[in-house]
Amino acid sequence: MKALILSGGKGTRLRPLTFTTAKQLIPVANKPILGYVLDQTSQAGIEDTAIIIAPETGGFVKDYVKDGSSWGIRVEYITQEPLGLAHAVKTAKHFLNNDSFVMCLGDNLLGEGINKLVEKFNREKLDALILLKKVENPGAFGVAVLDENGNVVKLIEKPKQPPSNLALVGVYIFSPRIHEAIERIKPSWRNELEITDAIQELIDMGCNVKSEILNAWWLDTGKKDDILTANSIVLDEYIKYEICGSVDNQSKITGRVKIEKGSVIVNSIIRGPVAIGENSYIENSFIGPHTSIGNNTKIFESSIEHCVILDNTQVREIERLEDSLLGKDVKVSKNNKGRGALRLMIGDYSEIEV
Ligand code: DAU
Repeated sequence: MKALILSGGKGTRLRPLTFTTAKQLIPVANKPILGYVLDQTSQAGIEDTAIIIAPETGGFVKDYVKDGSSWGIRVEYITQEPLGLAHAVKTAKHFLNNDSFVMCLGDNLLGEGINKLVEKFNREKLDALILLKKVENPGAFGVAVLDENGNVVKLIEKPKQPPSNLALVGVYIFSPRIHEAIERIKPSWRNELEITDAIQELIDMGCNVKSEILNAWWLDTGKKDDILTANSIVLDEYIKYEICGSVDNQSKITGRVKIEKGSVIVNSIIRGPVAIGENSYIENSFIGPHTSIGNNTKIFESSIEHCVILDNTQVREIERLEDSLLGKDVKVSKNNKGRGALRLMIGDYSEIEV
């Protein structure tokens, strides 16, 4: 079995951050989302991996994943214009050959590994196994209809009137028959070759298509609030108390807080779950729950809660910064008139005075 990870696309909903990085590289608890996806495919024992990249942001993805050896896998990069998920499979045909493969979206996070799915696919000799999740807004996703025995009978991409509340989670396992199905479909109204339509085609061809319902959490991190939610959930689940930096006697650390090496905390309160990267400096500040702070970031006289702050950023004298996503090399400071809470989404290299 091989893995195909989709890290192309335009990332328009996360601009301006995606002008200078790929959306799949935005960190959650200080680790790029794509890193969690690769953890899951590699933990399922899949070594041969292709990563679909976009011409604009592919270089950033390569800089992060490199040859894949950090995950114990082999990685090939395939550049694709974002013409749909099925188009990505078509573009990767030379890599996939006649093998079965797992396809994962590089910006989706799952609260559970994919080992059981891979086992089920192999055991039941399926042509497609799709992962579904009950959601409140199915119209935003691909939606599946099951019969009384749990077989997939119909799939529709982003329907205006969803026939069920079962959304397609961005994890699919396919036999090589998917290539035949992709050859038969036409681009959708959004001019994309939809994998949802290709799976419907597989069903119409009489292939063996099954589904599994995900009971764990699933996050599609397309927008700012999704990233903040993902950050909170991952901090809640994975962060342990681990202080590798230095904390002075005036500071108080409570709860599960991870502070990486070289970071310095002076006269501040840090209330977990919080992750602080390497070589950051925090002075006379409060860092509240569900906050991730990257590397080389400086925070002075500020109060921050439920935020994701990337590398090389500075925050100065901000009374309350919450529910915010700050890019790299951002500066936020006070000009003495500012009052109350701030809600921000700031791109890389921005400078803001409030
Ligand atoms: O998140 C789950 C949903 O993902 C499913 O429910 C839908 O059925 C499926 O079509 C897909 O919908 P989206 O419209 O949300 O997909 P998006 O355009 O956000 O792309 C998903 C990922 O795949 C993202 O990391 C970018 C990458 N991508 C996307 C396209 C269209 C590519 O690598 N190449 C592409 O051509």
